[in-house]
Amino acid sequence: AGHVLGVDIGRRRIRAAVADLAGSVIARVDERNRCRTATTLVRTVKELAARTVADAGLVAEDVVVTVVGTPGVPDRSDRTLRHAPNLPGWERRGLLDDLEAELGPGLVVVENDANLAAVGEYAHGAARGVGVFVCLTVGTGLGMGIMVEGHLFRGANGAAGEVGYLPYGAEESVVDDLGRGRIEAAVSGDAVVALARDRGLAVKSAREVFALAKSGDERARAVVAAEADRLAHVVASVAAVVDPELVVLGGGVGGSADLLPGPIEEALCRITPLRPRVVAGALGDGAVLGGAIARALVSANDLVFDR
Ligand code: BGC
Ligand code: NA
Repeated sequence: AGHVLGVDIGRRRIRAAVADLAGSVIARVDERNRCRTATTLVRTVKELAARTVADAGLVAEDVVVTVVGTPGVPDRSDRTLRHAPNLPGWERRGLLDDLEAELGPGLVVVENDANLAAVGEYAHGAARGVGVFVCLTVGTGLGMGIMVEGHLFRGANGAAGEVGYLPYGAEESVVDDLGRGRIEAAVSGDAVVALARDRGLAVKSAREVFALAKSGDERARAVVAAEADRLAHVVASVAAVVDPELVVLGGGVGGSADLLPGPIEEALCRITPLRPRVVAGALGDGAVLGGAIARALVSANDLVFDR
């Protein structure tokens, strides 16, 4: 026998789960991410993983494969994580080695979070059996996983799906600290909060804005409409390049997604003849972890098979 471990490193929360080789989750831990540096992050992930393994009544040696989902693009050549904005120190050389050393002795795979969310939605969620689809993760950042016939499409450098970098004009409110207009800055959770404050709503999180919109607040509904409109531009760009059958929305903002698919599909009708179906993810904030476990099971079963 053997077990697998999945880890989801989010900017706001860190989660881990242990499953057996049949995929049944035995233990799960979910806590706030308070880390400010890459070093404390590696230590925190190690502790959380150890606690989850202990909760499952196991020891580290029982874990044959660990899959870690994180914002950013793992660069296997120089062992850094690239393109992880808002994460101080993240792009440090050797970060991948540190994670692997701390999470061993089994095989450790680090993968982009949005890619794993796509794997999760394909394995157990809204994209089961869909040949060509994308899963957009909208939260603190904007990311995407592209799946073709059950396989992730990663591009030449693993950065396929880094839609947060789609250019988005140079309005002051959406440029990053290097002065580059990135659409991520216009659709992420912080942008939703900013849009709401502009309309006089005293909110701290995108979640509150969506809750207000659900309860019928007109200003919050206008914010959701504006967010849907901006996301529709992302979807229109993606549709022109990938031509997916389905767009799954996930992540902290996309997770309020029952409100978004309708208005996004309406906006698509105005801006493009290319109109994939848009649906809310079925796994909510468990998509990355679910994908990590699914991905780990594939490797674990290969390992067992090879023996
Ligand atoms: C990062 C992506 C990540 C996305 C969602 C973006 O800021 O560039 O790599 O997938 O956030 O977390
Ligand atoms: Na991705």
